[in-house]
Amino acid sequence: MFWILALIVFLTAPILAADGSSCMNSSKSRFNLSCSDDGKIFDINVTAALGNCGQSTCNGNTPHLIMQKLSCYWKNNCTIDLPNDIIVQTTDNSDKCTGTKPDILVLYSWKCTSESVQVYDFQEKTGSNMSFDRGILRSHSRFPWDYFFSDFCTNSKSFSSCSRTVKFWLKPKYTFVITVHKINVTEPDSLTWYTKQDTTPRPVSMGTMTFDDSAEAISLQLNLTEDSNGDSGFLICYQSLSIGNAPKDACTDLTTLHFNPQILKSRGDKDATKRKGGKKKGKNKTETNGKQKSGKKPKG
Ligand SMILES: *[C@@H]1O[C@H](CO)[C@@H](O)[C@H](O)[C@H]1NC(C)=O
Ligand SMILES: *[C@@H]1O[C@H](CO)[C@@H](O)[C@H](O)[C@H]1NC(C)=O
Ligand SMILES: *[C@@H]1O[C@H](CO)[C@@H](O)[C@H](O)[C@H]1NC(C)=O
Ligand SMILES: *[C@@H]1O[C@H](CO)[C@@H](O)[C@H](O)[C@H]1NC(C)=O
Ligand SMILES: *[C@@H]1O[C@H](CO)[C@@H](O)[C@H](O)[C@H]1NC(C)=O
Ligand SMILES: *[C@@H]1O[C@H](CO)[C@@H](O)[C@H](O)[C@H]1NC(C)=O
Ligand SMILES: *[C@@H]1O[C@H](CO)[C@@H](O)[C@H](O)[C@H]1NC(C)=O
Ligand SMILES: *[C@@H]1O[C@H](CO)[C@@H](O)[C@H](O)[C@H]1NC(C)=O
Repeated sequence: MFWILALIVFLTAPILAADGSSCMNSSKSRFNLSCSDDGKIFDINVTAALGNCGQSTCNGNTPHLIMQKLSCYWKNNCTIDLPNDIIVQTTDNSDKCTGTKPDILVLYSWKCTSESVQVYDFQEKTGSNMSFDRGILRSHSRFPWDYFFSDFCTNSKSFSSCSRTVKFWLKPKYTFVITVHKINVTEPDSLTWYTKQDTTPRPVSMGTMTFDDSAEAISLQLNLTEDSNGDSGFLICYQSLSIGNAPKDACTDLTTLHFNPQILKSRGDKDATKRKGGKKKGKNKTETNGKQKSGKKPKG
């Protein structure tokens, strides 16, 4: 037995504002974010707000919006709709809309991994040499959903703590650039770095570090205890480049920035039911004639 997804889909021209953002005010529309080729989504700048498109008054997140965003990570394409729950967290230093349902959804941009850029999991690279020239290193495959102690410490000698290290050997005459794009590892856990020359561990924080070949090797060490907070982990970009070519941000060359999503409009349940003469069973799953219309814009 299989179900036929019965959305009636219209593809329309996105609403593009001067700042490159796209906005929607209807719960019957969805943004469809996608990456070119084999890219994977890993960052989304989207906000729910009050007011009208072009005149928003308060920006924030609702639990459903946060969940939708996190669910998009590492997919090639995904959809995000206007959440129907309340804003619990504002992002523009105002609390005047917490507890309110948003009117609009504003999508500024999203980022994807570039084609051919590998994403490695820290948990799988520990104890081995990173001999790759460039890549994206994420703490665990579910990033940015919280990690568990057991993601890293299954074979630990101690049951209560473990330490995992990933080591990069630097290429002679190359600059090694490492950018920490996101990090959320808090006490009692820690992520520190040190070099072969200077083994004093230093906390890893957001931003870019550049090393010349005299450092010989860079180690990233993740220490965890059973009392782990289970934070979201980290996402790091790294690149080996011939000296003099170091970028300010190692992620820039490894990722692509996207604007202007496809907007999918689905007919509401009410309409679908009406059209079929009130066949109530279909209400939750929408009707099933599988029609797809592609965007016919009025010719003008
Ligand atoms: C959505 O925006 C359109 C055009 O800006 C407007 O005509 C419409 O009334 C808005 N709908 C809602 C539910 O605010
Ligand atoms: C979103 O866009 C991608 C790429 O164009 C497409 O493969 C996918 O089917 C779309 N998703 C939906 C729900 O239409
Ligand atoms: C999202 O994009 C807007 C417009 O470019 C910018 O002002 C804002 O800082 C961005 N937010 C994040 C979290 O990057
Ligand atoms: C859209 O993403 C789905 C999985 O989320 C994938 O199966 C599908 O191939 C993607 N579409 C394209 C055009 O890559
Ligand atoms: C990692 O590479 C270094 C230098 O090439 C080598 O000395 C070391 O034995 C390697 N370690 C492992 C675990 O492969
Ligand atoms: C992490 O654990 C290792 C091994 O137990 C230890 O040598 C190191 O000092 C610890 N690092 C920090 C920052 O606590
Ligand atoms: C770190 O992750 C925890 C758990 O997901 C979350 O509560 C906290 O707000 C995050 N902190 C930052 C700075 O993102
Ligand atoms: C829709 O789903 C809800 C919960 O899953 C159920 O209680 C309700 O009876 C369903 N309505 C119809 C018309 O199938």
